[in-house]
Amino acid sequence: MNADSALPPVRKAVFPVAGLGTRFLPATKASPKEMLPVVDKPLVQYAVEEAVAAGVEVLVFINGRNKNSIPDHFDKAYELEKELEARGKQQMLEVVQGIVPDHVSCVYIRQAEALGLGHAVLCARPVVGNEPFAVLLADDLIDGKGTPSLSQMVEMHARHGCSVLGVEEVDGPDISRYGVVATQQDDGDTASVTGIVEKPPHAEAPSNLGVVGRYILTPRIFDLLERVPRGSGGEYQLTDAIAALLEYEKVLAYRFRGKRYDCGSKLGYLQATVEYALKHPELHEPFRDYLRDAIDNGLLRED
Ligand code: G1P
Repeated sequence: MNADSALPPVRKAVFPVAGLGTRFLPATKASPKEMLPVVDKPLVQYAVEEAVAAGVEVLVFINGRNKNSIPDHFDKAYELEKELEARGKQQMLEVVQGIVPDHVSCVYIRQAEALGLGHAVLCARPVVGNEPFAVLLADDLIDGKGTPSLSQMVEMHARHGCSVLGVEEVDGPDISRYGVVATQQDDGDTASVTGIVEKPPHAEAPSNLGVVGRYILTPRIFDLLERVPRGSGGEYQLTDAIAALLEYEKVLAYRFRGKRYDCGSKLGYLQATVEYALKHPELHEPFRDYLRDAIDNGLLRED
């Protein structure tokens, strides 16, 4: 328990990684989209690092078909480690060994059918049990600019003692690609959620606040997930269970600080790649120089 709030801490995080990744086919034919690298780390590792930085100790992956590469990535790789050791590649060895810190454990649950995000989260129930937990969608890559977004949300959860949804302002028709919240008592940072709807038509969106792939949820959500009917896209939607949760508990929308890249889209993925390369310790200088020269030499000219 946290001494000040008497709330159980957020120790477990759920990573739904069973989606088909159709927007990235054929790259995702045999490998999950969460394993797409941004510079030198797969998307799912950024999300795991964010969760671990926020205090999470149990990582629950909801796997589908073609997902062996995710358990392999977070598993110990004896042969590779031996090889790196033999070649004196100490720094790389530490990188490989440090992917999951010793105090953190990984659990894999198979989601046999891709029945939606709500169904994926419900699959985590036997491991999560009766405590608050986080959900991270790894294709939303968030640079928290100093404080990872999940750490910010854990703090909000501790302060307010309720479920917290990461939101950002989405202008124009793109809002219809998100879960969208209706709110009141908006102080510019947090707002109390009064309604939430999955992927509404632009004209019907209750606000311009779209839910991004970061959630802290109270365990009551599982009972509600058991009961929601199929929703948008014929899938079991987490959004619909959150709408039902509002009848029982307060839910907070939180505008996290930082920059989010929609790595579920090719454009967002490329933006993340360029911007993460520009701040990568090995690459920022040569890549910046390359970009400058290439632009000076007409890379962006349309002829
Ligand atoms: C999912 C959620 C949606 C949320 C979005 C954030 O949709 O269902 O509510 O706004 O993630 O990325 P998906 O992008 O998986 O279709």
